[in-house]
Amino acid sequence: MASKESDQTLVLIKPDALKVSLTGYILSQFSEFHTGLRFAAAKIVQVSKMLAEEHYAEHKGKPFYPPLIKYIRGQLHYPTEAQKRRVIAIVYSGPDAVKKVREIAGPTNPHVAREKAPGTIRALGTVVPVKDDAGNVVGERMDNLVHASASDAEAEREIKLWFKPNDIMPYMHAYATETCDEHYYFKDGKLFTTHAPDSTCLLAPGHTAWKSDLEALRLLLQGRPASCSTDAVVAKYLINEKREAV
Ligand code: RTP
Ligand code: MG
Repeated sequence: MASKESDQTLVLIKPDALKVSLTGYILSQFSEFHTGLRFAAAKIVQVSKMLAEEHYAEHKGKPFYPPLIKYIRGQLHYPTEAQKRRVIAIVYSGPDAVKKVREIAGPTNPHVAREKAPGTIRALGTVVPVKDDAGNVVGERMDNLVHASASDAEAEREIKLWFKPNDIMPYMHAYATETCDEHYYFKDGKLFTTHAPDSTCLLAPGHTAWKSDLEALRLLLQGRPASCSTDAVVAKYLINEKREAV
């Protein structure tokens, strides 16, 4: 696909990077001066189980999936300090955004990054053995400091998962939006169009939503298959809604 101004990618500054105070370094590596890319949006997120599982859905069932979910939620780096568990989510915009950011991030495995791409961000990461209850090493966890979208299609899925249109400056919208004309509520894994006690209002008439999300919501409400799951639409509306138990 030809690169263009509206190319976008999602970066997550992961909990290990926050813990060792590498945020400033990472932002500087991705800065417009180095990449020609510009901020389209940024926010600090307490990562829910729903959001983590949707983000890493492609890895479900793999041995490293359970520790990966704990890692991105900050439970491994802040086992007792729930208030410090967060990531910084950033959308960068500009020509070849996905490729440029992946190059600066470096190979997934920090040991490989140190060997093959020593100047990359992930060369500063670490690999941690994963042990079973008996203390046997059963795998490894890669604490690699940043996430970067792997393709334009993944970038679109991920940006729509982490950001509502109004979190992004309108001039920086890369994907189609639509004005909502119904109420949508969510409770206990189900969608509703009328309010129920303890439900969360996701959208109301007049709100701007991703067009693809509204298309999915209409189908999901009818119990029909959609381009994404209910959780993939809902997760972004629950970001930073409530404190979760430690
Ligand atoms: P990311 O999604 O975080 O940007 O990383 P990536 O595309 O370079 O790598 P991906 O295959 O998507 O893996 C996602 C994250 O899972 C952990 N991982 N562990 N033990 C393993 O074999 C393994 N493989 C992947 C890493 O933390 C990786 O960033
Ligand atoms: Mg990936």
